[in-house]
Amino acid sequence: MKKLIIAIDGPSGVGKSTLSKVLAHELGYLNLDTGAMYRTVALAASRRSIDASDHDALRLLCDEIVIEFSIKGGKDCVLLNNEDVSAEIRTPEISLLTAAVAACSEVRQAMVARQRELGNAGGVVLEGRDIGTVVFPDADIKFFLKASAGVRGRRRFLELQANGADVELARTIAEVEARDEADINRATSPLRQAEDALVIDTTNLDIPQVLERMFETVKDFFCEQGEGSR
Ligand code: DC
Repeated sequence: MKKLIIAIDGPSGVGKSTLSKVLAHELGYLNLDTGAMYRTVALAASRRSIDASDHDALRLLCDEIVIEFSIKGGKDCVLLNNEDVSAEIRTPEISLLTAAVAACSEVRQAMVARQRELGNAGGVVLEGRDIGTVVFPDADIKFFLKASAGVRGRRRFLELQANGADVELARTIAEVEARDEADINRATSPLRQAEDALVIDTTNLDIPQVLERMFETVKDFFCEQGEGSR
């Protein structure tokens, strides 16, 4: 059976991480959280006191650091030079810095190259902002998820709270909106829906309902392929 490249794009808080994890797990595919890669670059920059406007320093940093994905105790984790930084990359400070770092074209070039390297062979679910438009414009299946900012902010707030973070709902919603602004308005690879993406509005849908649609789409893809090869 063909090993697909599946793209899941959309703003923060639409459920991309959970959905891509489950989808990848059920299909036996690799799950590539591309946002975690940009977050890891931001963390590395912050540790070395590199300013997000210093593109030369960011480019050198990307050449130097090694970002890898691994599974520890059944959980996906991100490694920066072999150190598990999965929790550290999710603080509100790093989230804000990430939006600035992800706007740097040198950083994007380096990350896109690494994402293509990891996903090229197929059997992968990639989640991000520019997967269906820039990283893999020929992906076999493209999903674009959306939901209202209020709902997305609340979801992010509950997630952070569950992880023991000291957060406020209004501030979390404002941060989600600020990040959306930066992602949509940046010059390089802005958040944009691919024309051939299947759009799913998750405002009033729970995770199992969205998953059902995604699995249907994958099933339809294989059925159509089977018919085409007859
Ligand atoms: O999905 P996330 O919230 O972990 O993403 C973190 C940041 O990285 C967010 O500001 C959007 C940015 N990002 C991006 O620019 N391109 C991607 N492919 C993935 C994330």
